[in-house]
Amino acid sequence: MKCRKCGHEAVINMRQHKLALCGEHFLEWVPEQTQRFIEKYKMFTPDERVLVAVSGGKDSLSLWDVLLRLGYKADGMYIGLGIDGGVDYSNQSHQMCERFLSNLKSQMANVKSETPGPGHGDSGWEPTLHVVDIAEMYGETIPDVAARTTRGRSKPCSVCGLIKRHVMNRVARDGGYDVLATGHNLDDEAAVLFGNTLAWNAGYLLRQAPVLPADKPGLARKVKPFCRLYERESAAYALVRGIEYIYDECPFAEGSTSIAHKEILNQMEKDSPGTKLQFYLSFLRAREQGLFAEHAGQVELNACEKCGQPTSAPGLCAFCRLWERRRTDALQIL
Ligand code: AMP
Ligand code: FES
Ligand code: ZN
Ligand code: ZN
Repeated sequence: MKCRKCGHEAVINMRQHKLALCGEHFLEWVPEQTQRFIEKYKMFTPDERVLVAVSGGKDSLSLWDVLLRLGYKADGMYIGLGIDGGVDYSNQSHQMCERFLSNLKSQMANVKSETPGPGHGDSGWEPTLHVVDIAEMYGETIPDVAARTTRGRSKPCSVCGLIKRHVMNRVARDGGYDVLATGHNLDDEAAVLFGNTLAWNAGYLLRQAPVLPADKPGLARKVKPFCRLYERESAAYALVRGIEYIYDECPFAEGSTSIAHKEILNQMEKDSPGTKLQFYLSFLRAREQGLFAEHAGQVELNACEKCGQPTSAPGLCAFCRLWERRRTDALQIL
């Protein structure tokens, strides 16, 4: 298979786009596509400050890399969840993020010394990685919190999602960022969409989008610049670009419905290339036309009494209630 642009050996054939590219042209194509989506969905502008949530996996590290190559001022944020799962999962993923940043800084230092002129190196700005360790900050790891709450008893994923969303919002707000970017790719989005469609959950369908505007003042907009990039493409980007990432999935993800949905969608994609993309794009069009809006109803949001983040509950938000329960339990033991 030959690269469509230069005729050299291709490293990837994207059947859904009828496009094969060599390494060099693929490394150009991914940022071009990402920039197109950033503009199309009005995610952010070059003067806005972006915070990228990095998990140490291929999608979020590739995203950080692409945004920096495109010239955006993007910092990273890693949340230490305290998950071991027999593979030292959280420590390994943290290390991948730190390694990515130190490699990047040495590359930037080289570029700076070799090419005087405008660019990141000369603006004085350097990307940083914010690290929040849940156990250090709140006294318990995710598996610990999950074990003592009904929400997490069968699997920690729901508690984990709640905590991650809260912490991401807080770091974005405290750091004065305009936008919070996550590495969700097309496979993630199509799988979530599949699950929400099976349940016809109009509320969730309404809230699934490439851009979620800030709910309240002080909260960052949430964006997914890779939402139209296949997982296979983001993995190929990391590989060709030489980005080291953690191969292991979170140990708790094993057997999850979203993985089962991904497998079903992959089977359909194999039989008919482009199925996942069409599924997602048709949904976005339907959503744009207001298909789910009138059924979802408007939920009234208040500021949580403790942390100030928006919540549909009166008083404390679900995140603060998690830790409040721990305090009450501890008092009962005394
Ligand atoms: P997941 O829910 O694990 O598929 O992750 C979706 C996105 O959430 C990733 O692409 C990251 O942007 C972000 N993310 C997941 N885990 C973490 C973490 N531990 N720290 C920071 N960001 C994360
Ligand atoms: Fe949170 Fe797996 S990443 S439970
Ligand atoms: Zn080429
Ligand atoms: Zn709260």
